[in-house]
Amino acid sequence: MTLLRIQNLHKIYKNGTHALKGVSFEVEEGEFLVIIGLSGSGKSTLLRCVNRLIEPTTGTIEFLGKDITHIKGEELRSVKKQIGMVFQQFNLIKRRSVLSNVIVGRLGSMKTLDSIFERFPDSIYDEAKKCLETVGIEEKADVRADSLSGGQQQRVAIARSLMQNPKLLLADEPVASLDPATSNSVMQYFEKINKELGTTVVCNLHFLSLVRRYATRVIALKAGEIVYQGNPLEIDEDWFKTIYGDEAEEVEIR
Ligand SMILES: Nc1ncnc2c1ncn2[C@@H]1O[C@H](COP(=O)(O)OP(=O)(O)OP(=O)(O)O)[C@@H](O)[C@H]1O
Ligand SMILES: [Mg+2]
Repeated sequence: MTLLRIQNLHKIYKNGTHALKGVSFEVEEGEFLVIIGLSGSGKSTLLRCVNRLIEPTTGTIEFLGKDITHIKGEELRSVKKQIGMVFQQFNLIKRRSVLSNVIVGRLGSMKTLDSIFERFPDSIYDEAKKCLETVGIEEKADVRADSLSGGQQQRVAIARSLMQNPKLLLADEPVASLDPATSNSVMQYFEKINKELGTTVVCNLHFLSLVRRYATRVIALKAGEIVYQGNPLEIDEDWFKTIYGDEAEEVEIR
């Protein structure tokens, strides 16, 4: 089943930057799609259009067969609930407990959490703990979010997105702030969620070695256009130069 269908998407920012120039592709349920491309090629812009953090200029975005390009209000909120998002900088509420941060994934905001914190049914706590178990840090439930390492914080952010029960999980450079070993361990949780929960993942990544290891399919953007779409293992040296330019050389991270 087609989860996402993007057709001829353009994004022109207010300052005139034409960040996406007619991008079209589909994502099938269960895929682990990775988007690559040089800095400034439009990767973040694309993810932000999909979860409607920004408005595309023209083109259409269909989610589960429904045109969501311009929906608003309650309709938009209900679609956003089905789309989780993980960012490079984790975006946790530093001074709150890990468990509170995970519960926010269900509520949408900390303000809501403050107003009803005492009145949660046990089932919400149980679910939050289960999400923490999925990313292997249930023992950290009661510590402050900012006492964790970067890799642990990102796992909390993943657990927070799981509280939404998302159909689609978007991740914008989720391991760009982490060392290579930690990057791999965090990517393994995305893989686990993709394989075991069946959640479709669309993820921006910089390192090709990670792309080859985790992606079921790759899309490469260059200056706002798709220049490669296919199997990550078929990105040979020629394709690498097409995507990243003649001057680029591949850096290995294992
Ligand atoms: N809010 C904005 N206003 C104006 N221009 C923007 C805005 N956000 C991004 N851009 C521009 O749009 C283009 C694409 O940016 P985008 O952040 O999508 O690239 P990216 O592929 O995610 O890069 P990186 O790998 O550095 O994260 C760039 O030229 C960028 O300067
Ligand atoms: Mg980006």
